[in-house]
Amino acid sequence: MHHLSRVLAVILTAATPVFCSPISASVHETRQSIPCADPAQSQEYISGYNAAQTYHVFTPKWDFINDMTTNGVNWILQGPAFKTWRTLSDMGVDPSLTNSPTVNAAIVALWQITNNGAQNFRALVAGPSNGTVPSLQFGYTAELLRGYAYAVSICGSVPLRGLLNQAKSDSYFTASELEWEGLVGEGWQDVGVIGYVLPV
Ligand SMILES: *[C@@H]1O[C@H](CO)[C@@H](O)[C@H](O)[C@H]1NC(C)=O
Repeated sequence: MHHLSRVLAVILTAATPVFCSPISASVHETRQSIPCADPAQSQEYISGYNAAQTYHVFTPKWDFINDMTTNGVNWILQGPAFKTWRTLSDMGVDPSLTNSPTVNAAIVALWQITNNGAQNFRALVAGPSNGTVPSLQFGYTAELLRGYAYAVSICGSVPLRGLLNQAKSDSYFTASELEWEGLVGEGWQDVGVIGYVLPV
């Protein structure tokens, strides 16, 4: 729970506050509680930057390809950020176990949230694996369920860390410790670990 408190503490003091309910008490536990998901079923999530509105989103390349061609959205693709799973069935979770305490303790849903104000802020937050929309405050809404990740460091997963550029109200997520260090060195604020994913 410690890192989630830190996420909230940082984001609540930021220009664009956001709040989500705690989702799991076992985020630092490393005991494996579910079978490992098949890495071959994970997808590479790309960092896409919307320069006109200064925000990042994270989704597989095919999603950007479609949005650019079909909707004419001018994404700048900044490269692979992490690998994770689009659906619980891609993670090999039996649909009847979606709401089980074991699955809820081992997997989080990754929600893209937005605000309804003038700034088109986007961020990722973790919610329960059963897909219940996380509670948000201050005008923030859950926009899209982007995928699922481990809630704990199991099966070779690494922390997916958030960073906030407070001056620009832009958030970024990385599975690379060195990239995280680089951005912290440039003044970005650590907003903590939101889940555990596979490195690219
Ligand atoms: C989904 O999981 C969360 C966290 O375990 C729980 O609080 C919530 O009641 C569940 N939702 C449903 C519809 O069962």
